[in-house]
Amino acid sequence: MTRFPDGFAWGVATSAYQIEGAAAEDGRGPSIWDTFCQRPGAVRDGQTGDIAADHYHRWPEDLDLMAELGITAYRFSLAWPRIQPPGSGPASAAGLDFYDRLTDALLARGITPMPTLYHWDLPQPLEDQGGWMARDTAYRLAEYASLAAQRLADRIGLWITLNEPFVVTALGYALGTHAPGRELMLAALPAAHHQLLGHGLAAAALRAAGVARVAITNNYSPAWPASRSEADLTAAAAYDAVQNRLCTDPLLLGSYPGLAAFGAGPDGPGCVRDGDLAVIAAPVDALGVNYYRPVRVAAATGSPLPFREEPIPGFPVTAFGWPVVPAGLTELLTTLRDRYGDRLPPIYITENGCSVTDEPAADGSIDDQPRIGYLDGHIRAVADAITAGVDVRGYLTWTLMDNFEWAEGFGQRFGLVHVDFESQRRTPKASFRWYRDLIAAQRG
Ligand code: FCB
Repeated sequence: MTRFPDGFAWGVATSAYQIEGAAAEDGRGPSIWDTFCQRPGAVRDGQTGDIAADHYHRWPEDLDLMAELGITAYRFSLAWPRIQPPGSGPASAAGLDFYDRLTDALLARGITPMPTLYHWDLPQPLEDQGGWMARDTAYRLAEYASLAAQRLADRIGLWITLNEPFVVTALGYALGTHAPGRELMLAALPAAHHQLLGHGLAAAALRAAGVARVAITNNYSPAWPASRSEADLTAAAAYDAVQNRLCTDPLLLGSYPGLAAFGAGPDGPGCVRDGDLAVIAAPVDALGVNYYRPVRVAAATGSPLPFREEPIPGFPVTAFGWPVVPAGLTELLTTLRDRYGDRLPPIYITENGCSVTDEPAADGSIDDQPRIGYLDGHIRAVADAITAGVDVRGYLTWTLMDNFEWAEGFGQRFGLVHVDFESQRRTPKASFRWYRDLIAAQRG
């Protein structure tokens, strides 16, 4: 493995709803995921995040695991329904206390806290008022940002506003496979704009409260056309426009990509007001990049969407069925650099990892060689991008420990640490030791 630049951040990422549990404790209110999990058939086997990995009670043990791993940065998310249960009004002291303790405990272990303000757990009362389809939710995010920052700003290394606004728009509001489970199809585009506006307003609120460095995280998948036919090339360009550019062009270029393939007019989402794009495009200090896989795209007819996804032959797949293509990460990083040039801020890989069917052997050990292969390949792919001149400052793998994988419930295990969800026992997997050794070698 090549040597990464001095100061390169090595870490893990998690999110509140996926690990915390304690869904009704210390005044936490319901989020859209609590509601969605109650909907019959929405989540595999009717599972919920009520207990998840019980991190709310076991965080000291989890932080000790992080210290053992030797990470220098930890990306976690703040639960909006804990900090401000109704989604507006004053903060809950108990909610803030939890993250205050967590932040101090991270710093005491030499780990830089990188909180994400919003990782999908919208307070249910805000969804009842329209959720991300309502412009007002953007202003609520800024208010919540300022409450959180007033307590934590002085100790935070890098603050991330949103996680994957396109995924929220597509799965939550267009297709309905994630919370809040709305099926608006192409009419869901305002959900993207309102999240981006929320990002811009929240970023300003964070800075006003003293936060030094602000970022946003998007999910990227290189769009590979299924053939060189005109129709497939056009379909891949349309996929690229929503998956890779819808939430990045406005941030870095101050304009939406052409969305005519989705029936949109010249202003894209159709709800953009004067001044919004200037708020959204205020400079950020870093861009968070989540990468899991490329997508092969073919033209589609008879569907509201102008494309469909096809399997990519010739690569191994993860337990989720996602192709393992490390070079896709180098491709996307160099594409971002070529596309946005000087406007591209430094990049952190804020998520990258894979699910493996990790069953403990008779002696209790978990030998997850496919995960080691995945991580090794992708970390090398980051090194290749750095060699090609892309400014990447850190790599945070998804994820520390097995957790609630959204609509897949506990069925997809992405952790370096195995969690037995009956006993909540944590067992580091072979990949944990591999990553620990890699970080030690890089830091040493
Ligand atoms: C990402 C999410 C994260 C996790 C991984 C597997 O899209 O941000 O919470 O579920 O996928």
